[in-house]
Amino acid sequence: MPVIVGLLLALLAGCGGAAEPPPPTLAPQLAAGQRVFVTHCGACHSTSADTVIVGPSLAGIATRGGQRIDGLDARAYVYSSVLQPSDHLVEGFDDLMPQDLAKKLTGEELDAVVAYVLTLQ
Ligand code: HEC
Repeated sequence: MPVIVGLLLALLAGCGGAAEPPPPTLAPQLAAGQRVFVTHCGACHSTSADTVIVGPSLAGIATRGGQRIDGLDARAYVYSSVLQPSDHLVEGFDDLMPQDLAKKLTGEELDAVVAYVLTLQ
């Protein structure tokens, strides 16, 4: 009988292997970052270009962000925007970023949301 069990297992494994590959999804860190964004940022920041809610759209921030402050690349600029929101204000906007994001977000959530916003085109 063990032979038959072995055959059955081989068959089952074969079926699994033949299944369609799952559709592409966001990498786990980006998916986590998107959830953080929806909870903590999305009320004020749109992800579509030129849509202003309370703050500027974050579309294209990976390109724009590196040109905002001398010495800060886009990644450092986004971290700074979240951790020291009053240090640099975008022209034409008020100082309305929540001041307590550094306390509210875990280190992992912060890294994830920064990685996520840097993917926004
Ligand atoms: C209550 C509204 C509000 C929330 C919530 C908020 N922001 Fe902001 N944010 C603003 C405003 C207003 C500005 C423009 C003034 C300034 O520079 O601080 C801004 C500016 C920024 C900038 C600079 C954009 C640029 O074009 O240079 C970044 C990056 C940013 N926010 C990221 C975030 C992230 C990431 C979160 C969530 C973790 C977040 N913000 C949550 C209101 C908000």
